[in-house]
Amino acid sequence: MDVLVVGGGGREHALVQALDRSPSVDKIFCAPGNAGIARLAECLDINVGDLDGIARAADERAVDLVVVGPEAPLTAGISAILEQFGIACFGPSAAAAILEGSKAFSKAFMERHGIPTAAFRVFNDPTAALEFVAAPEWGFPIVVKADGLAAGKGVLICEDSQSASDAIRLCMEDAAFGTAGATVVVEQCLRGVETTVMALTDGERLVVLPPSQDHKQAFDGDQGPNTGGMGAFAPAENVIDSTLLTKVRDEVLVPTINGMNAEDRRFQGVLYAGLMLTDDGPYVLEFNCRFGDPEAEVVLPLIRSDVGELLSGIAEGRVPDQVEISDEHAAIVVLAAEGYPGKHRHGDVIDGLAQAEAIEAVAIIHCGTTSDGDKIVTSGGRVLGVTATGCSRDEALRRAYAAVEQISFPGMHFRRDIGRRDQE
Ligand code: AMP
Ligand code: GLY
Repeated sequence: MDVLVVGGGGREHALVQALDRSPSVDKIFCAPGNAGIARLAECLDINVGDLDGIARAADERAVDLVVVGPEAPLTAGISAILEQFGIACFGPSAAAAILEGSKAFSKAFMERHGIPTAAFRVFNDPTAALEFVAAPEWGFPIVVKADGLAAGKGVLICEDSQSASDAIRLCMEDAAFGTAGATVVVEQCLRGVETTVMALTDGERLVVLPPSQDHKQAFDGDQGPNTGGMGAFAPAENVIDSTLLTKVRDEVLVPTINGMNAEDRRFQGVLYAGLMLTDDGPYVLEFNCRFGDPEAEVVLPLIRSDVGELLSGIAEGRVPDQVEISDEHAAIVVLAAEGYPGKHRHGDVIDGLAQAEAIEAVAIIHCGTTSDGDKIVTSGGRVLGVTATGCSRDEALRRAYAAVEQISFPGMHFRRDIGRRDQE
């Protein structure tokens, strides 16, 4: 089968690598892709926002399956457009992707279906929101979230009423997150350990993938601003054991799939649950309607089944009873550009990629790169993801960090403590 992957970051590079390993897959296209993806797939110069352009390109090339990486095309309804062309889409309809697209929807949904999540209030009116955050019933800190998609930036943890009112004004009056912040969710702040659990589902049945852990803050020791993710590892069995994972399946994932079905929003694709493991059990921080980034980069390499067959089966309503998972571990260390997650440098030449890739069990993921003649140069905030597998988390991390040593570009920064939270 021929497959078109939508997106151009690290997650999509990991998807393309997994599809490239799949015996069922012949040709891979990627829109728009990046310099690393171009080594495995034919990149098409189409923006992820150009849904009609993507559908036409898929139709013209008679692809059998479109795999959608990012959330925006899903919430904008790419699956229905592809359906008009009779092309299978891995990823939910807009009606189901609202689980990520609107935090107000997702919180109310969890409340309706008894899925554990932090106490919350939803506001459309700044005056009412400001009044509430002056003295929230749960005390401080509280969390202020823009309702809509904000590329991971629309969540503000506020220690006091001053910073909470600033956050409300930023969202609702200054429109810092555009229309995404016209509605806000204010939440009780939970304490615990974060983990990601993703499941593949056709809307009725699901298979749970190995749990993973992302590292969102920019600097070591979880300091500094939130980013799109600076590193991850899987399986995160040190933070979530099999009993707890079963509890997440039974008390979060299954009720979510069933609840979405009952509300006529059948969810097909990857259901991503961002969880806080608290003393009172797991709570959902957020749902996403697609693979996590960088979680995909450490979970996909652990799948031994044919990923092409798996994703196309799910797009057509067939979930296998079991997915074959390797007993290895995987880790990713993200190399970011100077200034990231703020305004950052770009256009710098990257050295050492071939030496890094020569290290056993290492694969370099391109997140924000482009080609300039025969050179690879930086083009995004997260530039590369250095991934490695090994027979233990330590071995995977050792290999990944050995590969990091080989790579350089001006202003490169990365975290040195990925996968080491429990060893501090
Ligand atoms: P979200 O996009 O909703 O997952 O939020 C981004 C990040 O903010 C999460 O990964 C958490 O680190 C943090 N966060 C979100 N909601 C809460 C909460 N209720 N309590 C504590 N931390 C939270
Ligand atoms: N790693 C967090 C996300 O993909 O949303």
